[in-house]
Amino acid sequence: MLVSQDLLLYGLLASTNFGLTTASAIKRPRSATTTRERTSINADWRFERFVDAPDSLSYETLRPWILPSANNFLNGDKYEAPGEEAPGSDVEFIQPDFDDQGWEQLDLPHDWAITGTFDAPGVEGGLGRLPINGVGWYRKTLSLEDELIASGKSIFLDVDGAMSYAAVWLNGKFVGGWPFGYNSFRLDLTPFAKSGENQLVIRLENLLDSSRWYPGAGIYRNVWLVTASPVHVAHFGTYVTTPSVSADEATVDVAIEIENAGNSTSQVEIETKIYELDPTSRKPTGDSLATVKSTRVAVEGKSKQAVNGSTTVANPKLWGPPPSQKPNEYIAVSTLSINGTEVDSYETPFGIRTVQYDPLKGILLNGEPVRVYGTCNHHDLGSLGAAFNYRAAERQIQMLQDMGNNALRTSHNPPAPEFLDIADRLGLMVQDEIFDTWSFPKVKNDFHRIFKEWHEPDLRSFIRRDRNHPSIIAWSIGNEIPEQANSTGGETGKILQDIAHAEDPTRQVTNGLNTAKPGSPFTDVIDIIGLNYQGEGKGNSWVSTFPDFQKAYPNKMIWSTESASTVASRGIYIFPVHSNISTIVGAGPGEGADPETQQVSAYGLYAPPWAASQDKVFEQQDKHPYVAGEFVWTGWDYIGEPTPYDNSSRSSYFGIIDLAGFPKERYYLYQSRWRPELAQAKLIPHWTWPDRVGKVTPVHVFTSGDEAELFVNDVSAGRKKKGQYDYRLRWDNVTYSPGSIRVVAYKDGKEWASDSHVTVSEATALNVTADRTTIRGDGQDLSFITVAVVDKDGNTIPQGDNEITFSVSSGPGKIISTDNGDATDMVPFPSHSRKAFSGLALAIVKAEAGSQGEIVIEAKADGLTAGKVVLTAS
Ligand code: GAL
Repeated sequence: MLVSQDLLLYGLLASTNFGLTTASAIKRPRSATTTRERTSINADWRFERFVDAPDSLSYETLRPWILPSANNFLNGDKYEAPGEEAPGSDVEFIQPDFDDQGWEQLDLPHDWAITGTFDAPGVEGGLGRLPINGVGWYRKTLSLEDELIASGKSIFLDVDGAMSYAAVWLNGKFVGGWPFGYNSFRLDLTPFAKSGENQLVIRLENLLDSSRWYPGAGIYRNVWLVTASPVHVAHFGTYVTTPSVSADEATVDVAIEIENAGNSTSQVEIETKIYELDPTSRKPTGDSLATVKSTRVAVEGKSKQAVNGSTTVANPKLWGPPPSQKPNEYIAVSTLSINGTEVDSYETPFGIRTVQYDPLKGILLNGEPVRVYGTCNHHDLGSLGAAFNYRAAERQIQMLQDMGNNALRTSHNPPAPEFLDIADRLGLMVQDEIFDTWSFPKVKNDFHRIFKEWHEPDLRSFIRRDRNHPSIIAWSIGNEIPEQANSTGGETGKILQDIAHAEDPTRQVTNGLNTAKPGSPFTDVIDIIGLNYQGEGKGNSWVSTFPDFQKAYPNKMIWSTESASTVASRGIYIFPVHSNISTIVGAGPGEGADPETQQVSAYGLYAPPWAASQDKVFEQQDKHPYVAGEFVWTGWDYIGEPTPYDNSSRSSYFGIIDLAGFPKERYYLYQSRWRPELAQAKLIPHWTWPDRVGKVTPVHVFTSGDEAELFVNDVSAGRKKKGQYDYRLRWDNVTYSPGSIRVVAYKDGKEWASDSHVTVSEATALNVTADRTTIRGDGQDLSFITVAVVDKDGNTIPQGDNEITFSVSSGPGKIISTDNGDATDMVPFPSHSRKAFSGLALAIVKAEAGSQGEIVIEAKADGLTAGKVVLTAS
C-alpha cells in the first residue's frame, strides 16, 4: 500500500479496482494485504529535457535488456536479459541519491513539447515545429509501506503511454521498457521494490524525423501503481465475448488468465459475476445478473493458467450506436480465492452486441445495417497537445457526434485507454488502428526501425488491452503501408492479420489501402477492403476503384478507411470560387489557396491531388451503395501536417472542426447528410465584404432540407432544389452589396430551417461564453471558453483579428492554453494573449485541484468593452 496515495486524476472516472460498490459482489472475506489496488501515480514528478543526449544511453544500447519486457506478448521464443547489468549504472540521473530538486516539478500526463515555441531546430512543419525531440528524464519518489513489502504482493508499474523508447529503473536497477510510444505497457517492479522510499526513473527519447504528424513527447498518458496478490488476474488477462445474442438471452463467455507469481502451486477458485455497468462511475450497479460457475484450478508457481467459463444474461440490453440504438454496458467482476479467502477482484467492462460485415449491406450491428459516418483523428487534443485529458477527449467526441459522426478511426495508432471508455459510453463505433508503417519507412526514424522485433508484442498487447470494448468494430493493422502492393505486403499482412485473429476471432481486420489493387497479395489477405481515396477517385479523376474491388472480392466488405482530405480555414473565403464540386487546391484563380496569407478557402471544394471534396465523396458513396461508409480525413484539425503549407504552418487544414474546436463551414454539410432528421441550414459566406461591393460573391447553402430560397437584401435570388447528387445548393452569381442574406430551406415542400447573415458594423465588445460553467475542482476538468469579437448588435465580426488577453480575475482557476484555429498562428499555446481568428478565440481553463467556488475569466482587447464569464468549481 502506498503511504501517500495520490489524488485520482480524472475525478469520478478514475477507477481503482479496490472494492466494489455493490454489497452483493462481495461474499468472501477479503484481506487488505492481499487484494488488488490500482493507484494513480501521476502527481509530483521531476522532469528534465535534453536536446542532445546527456548520457551514453539509447534504445540500441539498452535493447537486449528491454526486449524481455515483450515476453508476455510473444507466442514463440522469449527473450532473456544478458547476464551483466544493463548500461546506466554510471548515469547520475538513475542513482537514487541524485539531487533532482533543480528539475521541473510536474504532474502527469505531460507533453514536454506542447508549451514550446514553433521553431524547434530540425522539427519540420509535418511534426508541428514544436520541440518533440531529445531525451526526457522523469523521476518520482514512491513511498511503499513495510506492510506491502512484507506481504509479498506483486507490484506493477502500468504506463498507459510514454513517447517514446521508454526505459525504466527502480532504485538504480534496470526494470525494463517499451519503445512504441502509443502502446500501454506493464513492468514488474516487485524484485526491485523496498519498504520506504523508492526512486523510480524513466528515460524517454524522441528522434527527429520520427513521425509524419505531431507525436507529442513525454509521459503523456496516465501512470498507475498496481499491487496484487501473487496469485492474480494477469495483465490484460480477461477476454469477454458474447457468441450468441438474442432478445431473450445472450451467452457471455469469460476467459481469464491467472498468473501465479509465487513459487508454489495454489489451488485457486474463480468466479465471475455479471452486472450492469453504471456509465458514470464505470462500476457495477444493481444485483448481479448472472454468474459464471465457480471453478477451481491448480496454478503452478511462476506460471499462468487459462480458465474459460460461460453464463447467460436474460433479456440483454444491447450495446449499439445512437440514434437508433443505445450504448448499454455490462461489467464482469471476477474474483479469485484461495482457501475461501478472496485474493483478487478484477473488473472487465464489456457490451453485449453482434457485429457482422456484409459485403452488400455493410456493418450490421445487432442485425441492423448501420452506415458508417466516420472520421479519422490523430491523438492530440489541440493546444493541450498529446497530454491526455478526459474532458478534452470527451468534448472532441461529443462535437463529432453532434455532427452525426458515428464512428472514428484512431489514425494511425492505439488511443489512450480512456478514449475507448468514452467511445463505449457514448456509443461511438471505433476502428482501432495500430501502425502507420511496417518494415518500410515513411520517414527516416519511424516504427520501421523496430518493426521486426516489436510487431508481435505490440499487436498482441494492443488487442488484449482493447478487445473487451464493445465500441471497437474492427482492427486496423496499418495505414498506407509502403509494401501494401508487393509480395512483402502480402506476407507481412498475413502474419499480422493472423495474430489479430488469434487474439480476437470476433472482429474482422482492415487496412488503409491507397496503392494496392484488386489482386495485390495483401488485398487478397485482408478481411475488410479499406480504401484510402481510391474509391472516390483521386484529385480531379472520377474513376472509382470500388467496382473493381467489389467484383474481385464479392465476399468482402468494403469501406473508405480514409476519404476527403478537404482543406479549409474557418471563416476564410477566397475568390473566385471554383464551379466544380471538387478541385485540386492551388494558388491559381479559383483554386482556393492564398499563398500570401497561407489560408485555404472555406467553401469546402478544395483538396490535395490525392484527395477530394466531401461532395464528391458523397456522390461516389451513393453511387456505390454496397460500400459500408467512410472515415473522413479528419474530424478535428491536428498539430503538424499543414498541407498545403507544409513548410510554413503549424497545424493541419484537413479538420472539419478546427484545432481550437470551432466547427468549420463543412461541419454543417456533414451534419446535413449524417443527421437528415435535424432541421438545419447553414449559409456561407458571411456578408461583410467592404472590398467586394458590386463583385460576384457566390452564396452556398448546406441544409438537410431538399430545397431553399435565398434572399439578398430581402429580394429573392431564386428557389433551388437539390438534384440526385447535389449535397449543397449554390447561387454562384450573387453580386455583393451590404445588407443581409437569408435562406429559407424546405423539406417536402414545407418550411424546414433558415439562416441569415447581416453586414456587421465595427467591433465594440468581446462576448465571452463557456461550454460548461460548472466544472469539478479536481485540477483535471476543463471549461472551454470562447471569445467572440462583436459589434453593437452582438454580431460576430467575421474578419475580427483583435489581440485578446485572457486572465483569471478571481477564483481558483488557471488558464492552461489558448488557440484560435489559425494554422499559421505561431504564438505559443500557453500564451494568455492571442489574436482572434475570423472573429473567435479560445481559452482552456481548469480549477485548481481541491478547489471550490467562483472563477471569473476575463477577456480584454484594446478599444473594446471587455467581457467575462463566471465559472463554478464544485
Ligand atoms: C493520407 C494519410 C494520412 C494523411 C492524409 C492527408 O494519405 O494516410 O495520414 O497524411 O493522407 O491527406
